[in-house]
Amino acid sequence: MSLNEAKKIAAYKAVDEWVQNDTAIGVGSGSTVVFAVERLAQRVSQENLRVVCVPTSFQARQLIVENNLQLGDLDRNPHLDCAIDGADEVDANMTLIKGGGGCLLQEKIVAACADKMIVIADYTKDSSKLGEQYKKGIPIEVVPMAYVPLRSRIQTRFGGKLKLRMAVAKAGPCVTDNGNFILDWDFDQQKEYDWDAVNRELIQMPGVVETGLFVNMARKAYFGMADGTVKERS
Ligand code: 5RP
Repeated sequence: MSLNEAKKIAAYKAVDEWVQNDTAIGVGSGSTVVFAVERLAQRVSQENLRVVCVPTSFQARQLIVENNLQLGDLDRNPHLDCAIDGADEVDANMTLIKGGGGCLLQEKIVAACADKMIVIADYTKDSSKLGEQYKKGIPIEVVPMAYVPLRSRIQTRFGGKLKLRMAVAKAGPCVTDNGNFILDWDFDQQKEYDWDAVNRELIQMPGVVETGLFVNMARKAYFGMADGTVKERS
């Protein structure tokens, strides 16, 4: 089974199990979410469901609009029944690395407004310990003027190395939907980190806007596996 097929079976299963009539849902970002929106659009038209979709990024907004789903926002829908999103890695404790696509801030805001966050992923995201699968580090969204001091401060405090994420053409830094930069933290794999504590400390550093560490947020994860089955973790 290809990676895309694995993403699709996980996304379809999550949408079938968690989306009901008369609900508001958060729509995450990334390539796996494309399949979730596809399935959602099928169900909305076949079952005549009333579902409001709140996006977590420009990409998610486009997907909702292109699939003729009802577009909502947190002003009108501050309470969401669930948020369905992808992840870069999910460890055995359901701690996530997110933000490979640079949408971590809005993804975390939307997930925090939802009763439950449901993760959809292919088998390459399934790990026992963070860093085992995803090698690009933990994304940290920062205010542009603070990226240099934060880079050394985080390195000195927690070890590893931080790199400013560059735009695809590498002509300049990658700028998030919120006008910020991203530092990708290649943390020290030999160390045992308490991710909850690390996340809290990072958030308190002036200039850090949000981290791609999602601790105690995800209720359930669906992994599309290479053999065509869907593995679940909660
Ligand atoms: C974007 C994200 C994505 O959910 C994450 O990168 C996974 O993406 P994909 O479904 O393409 O593997 O956090 O900020």
